[in-house]
Amino acid sequence: MANKKIIITIDGWSSCGKSTLAKQLARELGYVYIDSGAMYRAITLYFLRNHTNWNNHDDVIDALQHIKLEFQANHKNGSSEMYLNGENVEYVIRDLVVAEKVSEIAAIKEVREFAVKQQQAMGAGKGIVMDGRDIGTVVFPNAELKLFMTADNEVRVKRRYHELYEKNPNVTMDEVRQNLEHRDYIDSHREVSPLRKAEDAIVLDNTTLTPKEQLALALSWVSEKPGEL
Ligand code: CDP
Repeated sequence: MANKKIIITIDGWSSCGKSTLAKQLARELGYVYIDSGAMYRAITLYFLRNHTNWNNHDDVIDALQHIKLEFQANHKNGSSEMYLNGENVEYVIRDLVVAEKVSEIAAIKEVREFAVKQQQAMGAGKGIVMDGRDIGTVVFPNAELKLFMTADNEVRVKRRYHELYEKNPNVTMDEVRQNLEHRDYIDSHREVSPLRKAEDAIVLDNTTLTPKEQLALALSWVSEKPGEL
């Protein structure tokens, strides 16, 4: 019998390891990994660079018409990278300057409609792992496997601090902590598609799990899904 591919969604709090697990699963299963957060970060970068007034509806609509988002494979390491209007922005969108504004911009209805439409099109052929905040609730409510990730707050702060410190040694633990708390608050309190666990999502707390252990756990859930592999 032909193997049937599924859709796997991974939602959860900022910096709790969603993308690490999503990449691991995609590699293991031969699936496509889509980082939906990168899309909101790239839109934010465009707004910041072009001084878009995102409190003005017409300005937002106009700006979105000038934004083309694409994921392209990096042939050196096989990872998928975010392109904004043909420019590789994978590195610059991880900056704290973008992180400080992204949740405000991701809360705008038109911005979400713009991104969600493209995300749904990417999942049309299945065989996809997508991580974000509303993937299991809004983007793919019928996904076969939904995970909701969480981890202890201080562990999340330390993980993100180490990632950012490698790029910018001036970053402080307090700045990182404030940014994560700020984003988690806005993401879970916004009107449109707030971060919440889908009713049928499995909770994965990886506070004390190694990447290898979290992958093994997730693969055990994948193998329980009929039609997978
Ligand atoms: O820092 P982390 O990797 O946890 O976040 P991200 O996945 O890069 O997402 C950055 C921001 O984009 C989030 O804080 C949300 O405000 C927004 N986002 C969203 O609203 N919906 C998604 N599906 C993905 C991200």
